[in-house]
Amino acid sequence: MTQLLIRDLAQLATPGSVSNPLRGAELADVDVIEDAYVLCEEGGIVALGRMRELGSLAGDVEELDARGLCAIPGLVDCHTHACFAGDRVDEFTLRAEGAGYEELHAAGGGILSTVRATRAAGEPALVEAVRRHAAWMRRAGTTTFEAKSGYGLDRETELASLRAIRAADGIPTWLGAHAVPPEHEDADSYLDFALFEVLPQAALLAEAADVFLERGAFDASQARRYLETCRDAGLALRLHGDQFTEAGAVPLAIELGARSVDHLEATGDDGIQSLAESDVVGVLLPASALFLGRPMPPARDLIEAGAAVALATDFNPGSSFCESLPLVCSLAATQLRMSPAEALAACTVNAAHVLGRADSIGRLAPGYAADVVLLDAPDWRYLAYHLGGDIVAETIVDGRRD
Ligand code: NIG
Ligand code: FE
Repeated sequence: MTQLLIRDLAQLATPGSVSNPLRGAELADVDVIEDAYVLCEEGGIVALGRMRELGSLAGDVEELDARGLCAIPGLVDCHTHACFAGDRVDEFTLRAEGAGYEELHAAGGGILSTVRATRAAGEPALVEAVRRHAAWMRRAGTTTFEAKSGYGLDRETELASLRAIRAADGIPTWLGAHAVPPEHEDADSYLDFALFEVLPQAALLAEAADVFLERGAFDASQARRYLETCRDAGLALRLHGDQFTEAGAVPLAIELGARSVDHLEATGDDGIQSLAESDVVGVLLPASALFLGRPMPPARDLIEAGAAVALATDFNPGSSFCESLPLVCSLAATQLRMSPAEALAACTVNAAHVLGRADSIGRLAPGYAADVVLLDAPDWRYLAYHLGGDIVAETIVDGRRD
């Protein structure tokens, strides 16, 4: 069997060993090895360390000369909406001229305009779309991505979306409660439909369920009903919460033992404190806040209070048409006052925890998947430093080169 030896790396940087999401000061614990190698075999990492400690290798070895490059773990995007058809470039232009995101949504545009395009596309086109988006992500260093349904909101298109995400090697989340589609009178009657008609099949395809808990979408009692029913069907729980208003998402996430509550741009002191005292990961989406011209989430306060945070793109056609986690790391460093080390941990090991995969991805260590990003940089912190730069030299997935 062939081994892959990544040799003569300027640096290797990885979050340290953890059985729980990194929180507070632990987030900055990144191990850096200068003049390093990584040895991969059968899709996994078998050894890493300093070049001078590399023993002689027997058998078939493919060598990758990584002089001038740095290695970090494959990036993990734990929050995307990568299954959609069409675009929202007209809406984007209207927003640039002053229209509001919530206003467009209330007028039947926004999410519902993507629902119309996604319903019309058909399953093969959705598979094609997710694969195309996954290829964009991979070029930006993402080796594992979650993707949500939520642009179908009818039985056929929701299930087709979850299958399309699987077909593109994404980790599917059923966002059955994203918006109320026009054929339903109100949120409650839509949830009757979604939970009785869609959940039984969705639970076989998805790993988690997600809800948009926000004014104009679903309120806390509707979100509770949706999430409790999904949990009973075996799904892990996620929430979109506190994007525009604090409407009870943080206490609900904690009470129900959700894996994460995502957005948090509007979270105040009580929410920060209670999140810090809980096991729920706060997923921060600064590209979405930037794209909508909204306030950034209180990342520094969350970290100082001792919370576990992750970073993700929120890639979608309306609020974050951005697939780049390196750009998100730059936003974290420049807008959220997170150090490059905190940003790295947030979109690797902590994101892996959100996806229930922290024992196999998110770190460079023996026994972990050989998912490695080679940065075209003399110092791994260029990940955040090189704003919008062409920072990814190569992305290796399961020991396979591009
Ligand atoms: O996470 N806020 C709700 N859902 C997505 C946006 C979806 C869209 O605008 O199409 C988000 O921002
Ligand atoms: Fe989202």
